[in-house]
Amino acid sequence: MLRLLVLHGPNLNLLGTREPSVYGQMSLPDIDKSIARRGSELGIAVQTKQSNMEGELVTWIQNARGHFDGIIINPAAYTHTSIAIRDAIAAVALPTVEVHLSNVYQREEFRHHSFIAAVALGQIAGFGPTGYLLALEALTAHLEVNRKCSRPRADSKRKPAASRR
Ligand code: DQA
Repeated sequence: MLRLLVLHGPNLNLLGTREPSVYGQMSLPDIDKSIARRGSELGIAVQTKQSNMEGELVTWIQNARGHFDGIIINPAAYTHTSIAIRDAIAAVALPTVEVHLSNVYQREEFRHHSFIAAVALGQIAGFGPTGYLLALEALTAHLEVNRKCSRPRADSKRKPAASRR
């Protein structure tokens, strides 16, 4: 069974009451419930965690190696500042999808740059909480394709053509 780690960065614990016109009305516990529901529909194991602390996020990313097949992260404001989170993602080399609730490219210029994007498999921004569900689907599909590619083919035990004659 595929195992995915979903990380939420600083201030996302305030979702539901934090700038609802930008981030919507849904609370983080409700978002996590919808992630868990979609995870079980997809037949994957999902763990969700939130931290306001950069170092804690770095430690969780480091510890993901060997326990998870991929990471979904909304680094929140650390997206635009954190080389430490970027380096942790590069170090563990787990496929990682970056999620933002808002379309950061329509907002202030300082939100247009992501330190994470260059080490991420992909980025989903602007779809609100649905972005996490899209990320689950995209990362699961990516991992399943990769698994199939790395699995030996059923006919790989056949003798090479030359010796089959
Ligand atoms: C955010 C966008 C960031 O710029 C901001 O600092 C956040 C949330 C988003 O989900 O839209 O805290 O990551």
